[in-house]
Amino acid sequence: MLFQRVKPLDKILETAEKKSLTRQLGAFQLTMLGIGAIIGTGIFVLTAAAAQKAGPGMMWSFVIAGAVCAVAALCYSEIAAMVPVSGSAYTYTYAVMGEILAWMVGWALILEYAVAASAVSVGWSGYFMGLVKSATGFELPAALAAGPAWSFANGMPHVDFSHGVFNLPAVVIALAVTGLLVIGTTESARVNAILVAIKITALTAFIALTLPVINGAHFEPFAPNGWFGHGNGSGLGIVGAAASIFFAYVGFDAVSTAAEETKNPQRNVPIGLIGSLAVCTIFYLLVAAGAVGAIGAQPTAVGVQPGTPEFVAQCQALLAQGQQPLVCSNEALAHVLRMLNHPRVGDMVGLAANLALPSVILMMLYGQTRIFFVMARDGLLPETLSDVHPKWKTPHKVTIITGLFVAIAAALFPVGQLADISNSGTLFAFFMVALAVLILRIKDPKRHRPFRTPLVWIVAPLAAAGTVFLFVNLPFEAKMVLPVWGGIGLVLYFIYGFRKSHLGRGAVEVHEVDAGLPPKPVPPIKD
Ligand code: ALA
Repeated sequence: MLFQRVKPLDKILETAEKKSLTRQLGAFQLTMLGIGAIIGTGIFVLTAAAAQKAGPGMMWSFVIAGAVCAVAALCYSEIAAMVPVSGSAYTYTYAVMGEILAWMVGWALILEYAVAASAVSVGWSGYFMGLVKSATGFELPAALAAGPAWSFANGMPHVDFSHGVFNLPAVVIALAVTGLLVIGTTESARVNAILVAIKITALTAFIALTLPVINGAHFEPFAPNGWFGHGNGSGLGIVGAAASIFFAYVGFDAVSTAAEETKNPQRNVPIGLIGSLAVCTIFYLLVAAGAVGAIGAQPTAVGVQPGTPEFVAQCQALLAQGQQPLVCSNEALAHVLRMLNHPRVGDMVGLAANLALPSVILMMLYGQTRIFFVMARDGLLPETLSDVHPKWKTPHKVTIITGLFVAIAAALFPVGQLADISNSGTLFAFFMVALAVLILRIKDPKRHRPFRTPLVWIVAPLAAAGTVFLFVNLPFEAKMVLPVWGGIGLVLYFIYGFRKSHLGRGAVEVHEVDAGLPPKPVPPIKD
């Protein structure tokens, strides 16, 4: 009974056809769109956490995470091109596996989008304060410059406020971006292109200054925590770092969801996806090699998880001795350049991050509000959440509520832990999409597919296995968030959504979900 609440695919497609967006995107624009959404806090900030987890072996971590994303992206594209309506994995699951699983995916996507927006806000904060300090010497009191450190022992959270209480700049940027979304700001393709150019230039400058001064000795020991963190389930080691650095690739789904606006999607979508992932992987590898090779990975102590009270205390002790290890920096790339005596270029890279990261926050927050919006329209969340503001034409209520939660999480958690939690939700959603592709191939083999995943019987199982593999190698706490969050979601579903669902009440309605709303950021259509 529960699994019979499936939205008819034909209805969804009928709506999509009405929308009939012009197909005008080519492979190059798609690749730019992907790079714009992908490069962010992952490479600019989490490189430090990856160095702590894996040492120089983090270069493998980037390859592993990139490979899982590539196969997941190919699956995502088939279904995105076939079901080209908003709501991403939530809508696809509704059509293929039914309401309850769709709810679970939508619920997990909150982790992907909202928590990722918090993570990128915290990443922005580190660069902002580094830049202000470098330019003016001003430093915020420690209590307002970072959130507390968290760890879990015996299943109980332990919060340490001794080195940070409330991350004020992260809150400010999260609320500022929320404000922009409320008044209907979107990002034009031209702005996206400029930001992509800024990010690529910053990473290229970093690579150009670090690669020539690589010291082979810095690559020893190559993997201080081994491949699996010595098997203690800590999320350390090369694979543990891959599970975390997966965050650096999140955002490529922007390409899949643009499939409906793409010329010749069969050819261009995979080029755009694999192209943007390949460009990012090459940059990430070179940046990782440059960072570690130039100044060394310098893990504080083998086996300590970044973001925990123990780690923060070790970093404080090292800083007090005048040491400035990479792994302790909140602005990894700028830090490396300053250590190499390029303070001005370090500041420029910091400025590039400050300029570019808000657009990643914008895309994540946008994604979140639109998923809530679609779920509210389906009756699974209170419908008032889908109210559209009379003047700005935006779903202002849901945007403000989301922005407040994003700001609170950004105030109170370290970037690495937020990224890990976000990854747990994203990996679940990608896993469901890989399954959905296979189920639809069996249930509905004749349906027209504008894009078909190549070698689907190999690629989709690889994507499913890859997402599970990364998930089980996340730190214990991040892994636990998904079932706990999912449990809360199920309770809410039965209290509310199950009874209120429009489909459950017999109304098979499919909305043209974006009608009347501002377009998604980076509308790929003409500037
Ligand atoms: N991939 C995006 C980032 O690293 C989410 O910020």
